[in-house]
Amino acid sequence: MAFALITGASGGIGLDIAYELAQRKIDLLLAARSEENLLKAKKDISEKFGVRVEYLSVDLSSSEGTRSLTNWVAKNNFEINILVNNAGYGVWGSLEQTSWEKLHNMMRLNMISVVELCQALLPELRKHKQSYIMNIASTAAYQAVPTLSTYAATKSFVLLFTRGLRKELSKTNISVTCVSPGATSTGFVDRAGMNDSLKKRAEKVNMKPSEVARIAVKGMFNKKAEVVPGFINWFSVQMTYLVPKGIPETIAEGLYKT
Ligand SMILES: NC(=O)c1ccc[n+]([C@@H]2O[C@H](COP(=O)([O-])OP(=O)(O)OC[C@H]3O[C@@H](n4cnc5c(N)ncnc54)[C@H](OP(=O)(O)O)[C@@H]3O)[C@@H](O)[C@H]2O)c1
Repeated sequence: MAFALITGASGGIGLDIAYELAQRKIDLLLAARSEENLLKAKKDISEKFGVRVEYLSVDLSSSEGTRSLTNWVAKNNFEINILVNNAGYGVWGSLEQTSWEKLHNMMRLNMISVVELCQALLPELRKHKQSYIMNIASTAAYQAVPTLSTYAATKSFVLLFTRGLRKELSKTNISVTCVSPGATSTGFVDRAGMNDSLKKRAEKVNMKPSEVARIAVKGMFNKKAEVVPGFINWFSVQMTYLVPKGIPETIAEGLYKT
């Protein structure tokens, strides 16, 4: 039986994607840094759904990290027909006030690890009758977001990379989907270092990660190119194509100001 490999599966949207796939009796490989959370997820998911769950505690913000993940897969002869690149986070603040190290680690995780894992696992994904890649971007992929400028740019990268890869693989057994959630109640806001007033604003429009995961997995199996969960998120993405770019940028500037 082939596995689904999910990065960033120790919590948030990634963990709910794991539950969503397990419900469909799909065996899972989970990767993230927090061993304790991964072990908890393994126990709970395998007990509830009777699927096989293995995990690797790994930091994917370096090439050594992504290599140790692909080496672990190869060493254990894990067959994979679903790859979910979900691990990622934002860094909130102006460029002037943010440390290079923080930005660099985020860029490595959000962009480089996604490309590395797709490339390294393509030969494995090619072996199966039908395989899927799901890359998680963000509604921030569709417009510039002041104070989340670098994060939004990493997610634009994910969106365009995913669309390009989808075309490259269109005549193969691999379907490629980009999922772009809007605000979702996970560890994202805390990890990004956002303040309390921003947190409160986000809470008003937050979707539940379980809802995002359900829509994401459905879209992946329906072989959609892009999935934007939630009507408000979908509508705001459509608006970025219809109005001058400065308008959504000014709205975002107001929403995310430091
Ligand atoms: N929540 C939102 O509002 C929102 C909106 C749009 C897009 N997204 C995107 O959705 C994805 C999931 O985020 P989330 O909202 O579920 O946030 P989250 O709750 O903070 O989860 C992030 C996941 O990524 C993992 N991760 C972080 N750094 C890592 C590293 N260096 N190596 C390996 N794994 C790492 C975390 O696990 P460990 O800490 O255990 O490593 C965790 O499992 C991200 O790509 C995010 O950009 C989120």
